[in-house]
Amino acid sequence: MLDKRGFSMHNACMSHAQRVQTSRDVCFVRAYAKINLTLDVLGRRADGYHELATVMQTVDLYDTLCLTAIDDNQVQVICTSPALSNDENLAGRAAQLVRQRLAITQGVRIELYKRIPMAAGLGGGSSDAAAVLLALQQWWQLPFTPADLLDMAASLGSDVPFFLTGGLALCEGRGERVSPLPAYWPLPMRWLLLLKPSIGISTAAVFRSLSASDYTDGRYSQLVCGALSARSELQSENLHNGLERSVLNSYPEVARAREDLLAAGASLVRLSGSGPTLFAPFSELAKAVEVQRRLQAQGYEVYLSRAVSPNGDVNLF
Ligand code: C5P
Repeated sequence: MLDKRGFSMHNACMSHAQRVQTSRDVCFVRAYAKINLTLDVLGRRADGYHELATVMQTVDLYDTLCLTAIDDNQVQVICTSPALSNDENLAGRAAQLVRQRLAITQGVRIELYKRIPMAAGLGGGSSDAAAVLLALQQWWQLPFTPADLLDMAASLGSDVPFFLTGGLALCEGRGERVSPLPAYWPLPMRWLLLLKPSIGISTAAVFRSLSASDYTDGRYSQLVCGALSARSELQSENLHNGLERSVLNSYPEVARAREDLLAAGASLVRLSGSGPTLFAPFSELAKAVEVQRRLQAQGYEVYLSRAVSPNGDVNLF
């Protein structure tokens, strides 16, 4: 149960967590994962995308990218997951887009230390792409305006604009219209377990499988935004994800993992994005660790995490 016991300041204390660290020769950047507190699917659009309202929050599970200049006029991606060491990698595509927009011939190598599981509903690829845009802007002191960055981010993927700011935000349209919300995270949710079932899920396939009964009018996201702004109790029934029914029906591994999380002691379990990752909030570290250990003993991949605001929101308090 999500009770009303004040709020956690930990979102506000991230100013020391510099996301981009540069020197002349090298640039390191962190790319944080996200969870979806809500995800309303309003309907299918003429362009094939779905109109969304979703409340997203970055969490402290992150990939690390290291950018270095190379002599060749190209972008190289070298990833700890060999499947991602190719031209399709969204981080590489982001660097290529920057070079094309400004006709830059300087080449760049991107080393990508992948920790965020892939095709997991945690936004890892999108976050990597946003991290590259931010890193190059800062490292090479590029002249892009915030609107330019948003435009490039949206062309790379629906979730990429959110990761330019991260923290807590309401995302609408395809997901690319981002309204940052004041940093606030309910104390009863201060620890998060992220359980990644051992399958990958195609976001496109999940959206294709929706039926009209999965559509909502955006009310859950509005209600949760209102409650967060008022720092009042979050009702668990409002933490709605319109993709969850379809994913639980189509992927028995995810339905089983959900049951196992509940049986292990989680009181609330929700799908993140199009899954398959499930998240469960906890108010006490000891309980979260106990549940994590039980699930790991069953062979599950489970991360202990918390909400973070990578750009630091100290001024908002
Ligand atoms: O924008 P992105 O490439 O990340 O989206 C992946 C796929 O997910 C899209 O091709 C589309 O099929 C589906 N999608 C959707 N509606 C959205 C976002 C994604 O239908 N708002």
